[in-house]
Amino acid sequence: MFNRVFALLVVICTGFFLAACSSHYVAVQGASPETVFNDACAGCHHPLPASSDKYFSLSDDERNAGYIAGRILHGGVMMPAFPHIEGEQLAALSHFVLEHSVEKTK
Ligand code: HEC
Repeated sequence: MFNRVFALLVVICTGFFLAACSSHYVAVQGASPETVFNDACAGCHHPLPASSDKYFSLSDDERNAGYIAGRILHGGVMMPAFPHIEGEQLAALSHFVLEHSVEKTK
């Protein structure tokens, strides 16, 4: 009996854990990248200290739209994936991130 309850709990908890790894966020058609950023990203990504419109500090390898788009689609260790940000919107958001980032100094 106890084992069955425990197994059920494990299944339920795993479900919650997986749900947290992928966002269901879907942008409104025609929404500007700024709106998408504010809705989907700004809750976690705050402006850098001493700057009001730069959010990211990216290394040379990361400072390109391809890397950023991959990040958005697949997420990270703590960051959820956004599989529903696609096409034009993904490209526009990737450029928005690039424009609002600074070069990482080691
Ligand atoms: C739940 C919080 C959360 C949300 C929402 C979120 N991120 Fe992140 N993001 C993170 C964390 C934490 C990292 C770094 C560690 C990791 O990979 O998990 C990160 C890393 C990144 C990176 C890699 C560069 C860096 O600073 O490490 C980019 C680019 C990025 N996020 C863009 C976005 C964009 C664009 C969105 C919105 C579509 C978004 N994030 C939404 C938490 C979040």
